Amino acid sequence: MKRIPKQFWKQTAGLRLGRAMGCMFLASVALGVQARSVPDDVPKGAVLLKPFKMGLKSALAGGMSQGVDAAIRACSTQAPAIAEEHSVDGVTMGRSSHRLRNPDNAPEPWLAEVLEDYLSGERELTPRTLALDEHREAYVEPIRLQAPCLACHGETLATEVEQRLQELYPQDQATGFAIGDLRGVFWVTYPGSGLGEEPDSRGAE
Ligand code: HEC
Repeated sequence: MKRIPKQFWKQTAGLRLGRAMGCMFLASVALGVQARSVPDDVPKGAVLLKPFKMGLKSALAGGMSQGVDAAIRACSTQAPAIAEEHSVDGVTMGRSSHRLRNPDNAPEPWLAEVLEDYLSGERELTPRTLALDEHREAYVEPIRLQAPCLACHGETLATEVEQRLQELYPQDQATGFAIGDLRGVFWVTYPGSGLGEEPDSRGAE
């Protein structure tokens, strides 16, 4: 498989704060310290994704309160709608995975490469900002499986859940996950410099 050139990757902290801070970022990862603690340093991609993530969370919670079946319906109809609702003004976002439930969430080639890289285990499972071309950037955030996800993505599913998922997603590959596994990613693409909120430090790397 084609490898991604090193300079293509922009560790989020490295992109925003330059090389010196990038080293501190790596050091803090090595020490197990949460890298993103300074509010000012929240990457643009994370800001853009936030309402999408909150919308999904409340759709799932709302569905779950009425039972798993309602939750599956909520996910299957609302997740794509919420992604679309927040994909405006040159911004597009969604979720994707190396093991898809919904084939509509299939990754574009650039995102497939990011997923592949996460799966290789060679790098930390941390969010990344990368340049897609001169005018567009992307931000990708890995999603690890948590306990509440097991009902629909775990190793053993309730019979009715399994049946409902089979009906809706005959090619479902998104079961058999354990807590902590990489489930997939949130991604967003946006105009690279058009928003003019931050200096472009790419030349410095
Ligand atoms: C009630 C069942 C249910 C639960 C619980 C659930 N999901 Fe899903 N998940 C779905 C359905 C249905 C889809 C397909 C909807 C879509 O098109 O995004 C999906 C899609 C996804 C996708 C998009 C990629 C793909 O495979 O299509 C990701 C990522 C994901 N789920 C992660 C999670 C995580 C993380 C949790 C726990 C916080 C979770 N899910 C909990 C049902 C569920």
